[in-house]
Amino acid sequence: MKSIPRGRFISVEGVDGAGKSTQLLWLARWLIARGIPLVRTREPGGTPLGEKLREWLLAEPMHLETEALLMFAARREHLARVIAPALERGEWVLCDRFSDATFAYQGGGRGLPREKFEALEDWVQGAGAARIEPDLTLLFDVPPEVSSARLANGRELDRFEREAADFHARVRAAYLERAAAAPDRIRVIDASGSIEAIQARLEAALPLWLDLAA
Ligand code: TYD
Repeated sequence: MKSIPRGRFISVEGVDGAGKSTQLLWLARWLIARGIPLVRTREPGGTPLGEKLREWLLAEPMHLETEALLMFAARREHLARVIAPALERGEWVLCDRFSDATFAYQGGGRGLPREKFEALEDWVQGAGAARIEPDLTLLFDVPPEVSSARLANGRELDRFEREAADFHARVRAAYLERAAAAPDRIRVIDASGSIEAIQARLEAALPLWLDLAA
């Protein structure tokens, strides 16, 4: 029997107010236009249980470690029920946030030690050759004045979006630090310009990053 090549796993990250949602939609259309079979999903969430956990995570006050553990619990479910089966079927997965968000928000923002997350990553995502992690992560980066202005214009804010400016600054710094440590996987996109300018930049770079014909 001919084996199906594994699909690719793309995650999209950024501080709240970076404009990630608009670009995600564009990216999904761009991939579908290339005939790529795509599963769009998000974290926390992506499964019936994960979406319930999301509601609590975004609204309910809780101990900081409970917050981090629930992020990984939702992720375990998501990997088992959605992400791994899709990749095995040869479909691509486009995920709105993944583990990098835990390092940035619970690590950078909340100040929890990253060694604990590394152990949880090994547990939840597997270790060595069996590990599932994004093949490509797009990190939409904006300076704090841009993200806070975009948030101020939006709908009602959740528990993370309501955090103070220094929390968001730590989240951003942790994202950038993680990107510097894995520059081939995490591509930083300056998202402070116009939507069209960002999409033009993506259009030029994506075929290279994904090893696709332009
Ligand atoms: P977000 O992805 O910004 O969704 P929306 O665009 O609908 O607001 O919301 C998810 C929030 O969850 C975001 O503020 C970041 C936070 N989060 C973490 O703190 N840790 C994580 O591991 C993940 C996946 C998300």
